[in-house]
Amino acid sequence: MKVGILSAGGDCPGINAAIRGVGKAAMLQYGMRLFGFSSGFTGLIHNDFDELTENQLSGILTEGGTILGTSREKPYKKIRKQNGTGVLSKPEKIKQNYQNLELDCLVCIGGNGTQKTASLLAEEGLNIIGIPKTIDNDVWGTDFSFGFDSAFTIATEAIDRLHSTANSHNRTMIIEVMGHHAGWLALYSGLAAGGDLILIPEIPFREKDIISYLVKRHAMKKNYSIVVVAEGISPDKNLSAAKYIGEVIKKGGGFETRNTILGYVQRGGTPSPFDRILATRYGAKAAEMIAHQEFGKMVALEGQNLTCIPLSEAGAKSRLVDPNSHLVQKARHIGTSFGD
Ligand code: F6P
Repeated sequence: MKVGILSAGGDCPGINAAIRGVGKAAMLQYGMRLFGFSSGFTGLIHNDFDELTENQLSGILTEGGTILGTSREKPYKKIRKQNGTGVLSKPEKIKQNYQNLELDCLVCIGGNGTQKTASLLAEEGLNIIGIPKTIDNDVWGTDFSFGFDSAFTIATEAIDRLHSTANSHNRTMIIEVMGHHAGWLALYSGLAAGGDLILIPEIPFREKDIISYLVKRHAMKKNYSIVVVAEGISPDKNLSAAKYIGEVIKKGGGFETRNTILGYVQRGGTPSPFDRILATRYGAKAAEMIAHQEFGKMVALEGQNLTCIPLSEAGAKSRLVDPNSHLVQKARHIGTSFGD
């Protein structure tokens, strides 16, 4: 069998581990051939690919980024009707290149947007398998996407370091983490690093409650505070979440604040051991599904077990933090505030 593979959307640690997982299992266990498309769906549109050998997959397990490159190309966005002109739309080009290369399947490694595109390609009759990756952990249908554990570990280490300097200077530290419209990264890194206030898009907060919580801490002789904010809470895309909350705290409570925006450091570098294993398992599971001709699905993690869900479900919505979840409840029980 001939298998195509691409990585699309924002990169994250673990993509190479997943490519290696798919490729090694496909070649060694099932005798398949693997073709890597460059820069996400762009490579598929322009027929830019290389056959990958098993040797090329050695040594990439621990490497950050993606050996295939990635892009935010969305082939179904703004499809121009080219009927009768002989000019193919992007999805038509993808279909043509897939057929010309006589692929038996295409593996799409990506987040929400990628799973949506994957599901549309599956609807067009291509054999597609999705693998969920993102530091945001917001892909529907899986407990964890690889990349998340690495990112939340990096964010946790950074927040850990802010405690001592916040303490020395009696400051309120605001640290902004990524996550797009989801609060998973802020919730997990905030909890792991003992954040006092955690502000996420899924839990509406009130400015006055943020201030009264900080005033209470100070009254209890807690002279510094750690505030973890998800980038998605900003009401305005030109205003960072950290700046927004920093101003609220400075103006409303008169506290001395400092902002730290972690940014792309959360997406770079080597994957955590958990992500290496998860990405490897996802990859090998994808190869197994190809062998069994189980197409139109995304591999997923349910508890400790690997499973798969229809791409049509995975691509349809985002997975957000449940404000009533056990994790949020227990955080409240230990005095963590969500500003509400
Ligand atoms: O989806 C991953 C992510 O890192 C988000 O957390 C962030 O909002 C976004 O990508 C940044 O996108 P870009 O790489 O296009 O700047």
